[in-house]
Amino acid sequence: MAALLTARKALGLAVSSGKRCLSMLAELPETHQMLRQTCRDFAGRELAPIAAKLDKEHSYPAKQVRELGDMGVMAVEVPESLGGTGLDYLAYSLAVEEISRGCASTGVIVSVNNSLYLGPVLKYGTEEQKKLWITPFTTGEKVGCFALSEPGNGSDAGAASTMARQDGNQWVLNGTKAWITNSWDASAAVVFATTDKSLKHKGISAFLVPMPHPGLSLGKKEDKLGIRASSTANLILEDCRIPLENMLGERGMGFKIAMQTLDSGRIGIASQALGIAQAALDCAADYSLKRMAFGAPIGKLQAIQFKLADMAVAVEGARLLTWKAAVLKDSRKAYTKEAAMAKLAASEAATYISHQAIQVLGGMGYVTDMPAERHYRDARITEIYEGTSEIQRLVIANQVLKEYQT
Ligand code: CAA
Repeated sequence: MAALLTARKALGLAVSSGKRCLSMLAELPETHQMLRQTCRDFAGRELAPIAAKLDKEHSYPAKQVRELGDMGVMAVEVPESLGGTGLDYLAYSLAVEEISRGCASTGVIVSVNNSLYLGPVLKYGTEEQKKLWITPFTTGEKVGCFALSEPGNGSDAGAASTMARQDGNQWVLNGTKAWITNSWDASAAVVFATTDKSLKHKGISAFLVPMPHPGLSLGKKEDKLGIRASSTANLILEDCRIPLENMLGERGMGFKIAMQTLDSGRIGIASQALGIAQAALDCAADYSLKRMAFGAPIGKLQAIQFKLADMAVAVEGARLLTWKAAVLKDSRKAYTKEAAMAKLAASEAATYISHQAIQVLGGMGYVTDMPAERHYRDARITEIYEGTSEIQRLVIANQVLKEYQT
């Protein structure tokens, strides 16, 4: 905690003196190195030893999330005046990577609270909304969620059919939102619903809904391949009434809010994927130094060395893309393309590296005695949520074509 506070103060000075630039990619500033080490130590000490148990029991790490709140990790970008840490997005990316290296489920809990829930409230909320819907979510006592997808539309987010109807001084929400990370543990949701389906994406607005709340119920907890300590469920809205002032941003702005939120959310998932990839590489490298075959550790064999080299290149390349996207966001430059590139590269690196880690470990990679199989299962979702790899390619191609048109 003390290290984080010092990092925050030092970073504040760096920001105010305008020293933020892409040279940060060559070497992290001392402040960020300190934050990274603090999160790495916490993840190694408090998360990695229990990650397998959390995964097996599908249990939410409430105590650890509160501790992360104390460390300032649950609201990294939120200003201190609202109870947050007031650091930048690069700092946030580093924190999510290190937390995910210890436990990918905890990584996504942190990421969804920071990017998908607090992010849009911070950007679009009124002063009153910020006090009510941000401050209580900075400490790890409460977490938020983001309800965009529906059973009938995931990638086609503009086709939302959850309805919002005005009735006097209330909005009445009806519909089902799907695949909602954090849902069973959340105390509030940013919900996207349409006030006029004929307007397509321009009919969508964003709403702040407390949880639990009359008219809102949760579907069954999904029994997932990976990230099993984070909850995922449908969010069912049946005549769910909220005050008019719970609209976030302007009427009809919901799709834009969702897209901008996902731009920054994708940096969070890229960071989570980096953490998983790094953990899988750690596991493979460590094993290759200890496991003996043909009279020497298998790390002496070129067959293993080539794998380790390719794994190291994949994670480092994806990390640089992720940091670049974060630094562009911090510099208030366009970063839609870079965030999609980061998520695509990091999630595919995580899938590839965790696959190779199992290959290095052989039979030991296939059983739960070692963490490699969990990394392999955890990696897979990073290519799906917050936009599939196919959607990232679409976003990147659209941006590339725009650059050639201008
Ligand atoms: N920032 C700001 N505005 C944007 C934008 C962005 N990144 N992307 C698009 N827009 C705007 C466009 O400018 C356009 O505005 P106008 O109407 O004013 O012209 C409008 O949005 C529509 O744009 P498109 O025609 O490009 O939209 P589309 O319907 O073709 O969809 C898409 C584009 C990229 C496919 C988008 O639907 C998308 O990203 N889909 C994936 C959704 C997704 O990631 N879902 C994951 C949900 S969250 C989750 O995973 C759950 C969880 O809990 C972790």
